[in-house]
Amino acid sequence: MALMLCLGVVTATGTASAEPLYDKARGTAPLLETTKPPVLGNPINDDVRRTRNYAQQPPVIPHRIDGYQVDKNFNKCMDCHSRTKAEVSQAIPVSITHYQDRDGNTLAQISTRRYFCVQCHVGQDNATPFVRNTFQDVDSLLLKALQNPANASKKP
Ligand code: HEC
Ligand code: HEC
Repeated sequence: MALMLCLGVVTATGTASAEPLYDKARGTAPLLETTKPPVLGNPINDDVRRTRNYAQQPPVIPHRIDGYQVDKNFNKCMDCHSRTKAEVSQAIPVSITHYQDRDGNTLAQISTRRYFCVQCHVGQDNATPFVRNTFQDVDSLLLKALQNPANASKKP
């Protein structure tokens, strides 16, 4: 905290003319004050699976998850997303990585490393992103490389 305060002082004096740096999610409220985040109004619930931006991305959740119990007694997500429930629920069963422990052993039950699903998978909301994102996926990079005349002689 002390370090953050020091850094705050440096940026405040260092960039006097430019727009002061602040966290877009909490606004200009001072560090020691608590802000009231806006309520997420209307989670996306269209059941349309989204493209993953890269192969290792945890897919985002295309359905509502409010009220789903995930604690030491019960995992509501696995009530639909486990291997054996897929036929009834028509949910995509969790992949093999979700059954592996940190030593690479494949377990019979969901691994504790993957128990709390929303650590990695998130529901979506029709909100404007706070921060501009210039990420390009590998397909668009390949396409750009192919369109570059310098690479014309190379085969894809
Ligand atoms: C009632 C059954 C059910 C429950 C409970 C459920 N899901 Fe799903 N889930 C589905 C179905 C069915 C789909 C396929 C798309 C759709 O219909 O929404 C899906 C899709 C997904 C996907 C997208 C997978 C992909 O490859 O794009 C993720 C991620 C996901 N669910 C995570 C969760 C998490 C995390 C929870 C618990 C918080 C959860 N689900 C609870 C039925 C369920
Ligand atoms: C530590 C992060 C992490 C946690 C926790 C986690 N997942 Fe995943 N999940 C991933 C990643 C990364 C992928 C994509 C690569 C893969 O399959 O491992 C994925 C893939 C999936 C898929 C798509 C599987 C497929 O074959 O297309 C579903 C469905 C899913 N997870 C559901 C869940 C559910 C339900 C839970 C909770 C029981 C959960 N995940 C917990 C990271 C996580």
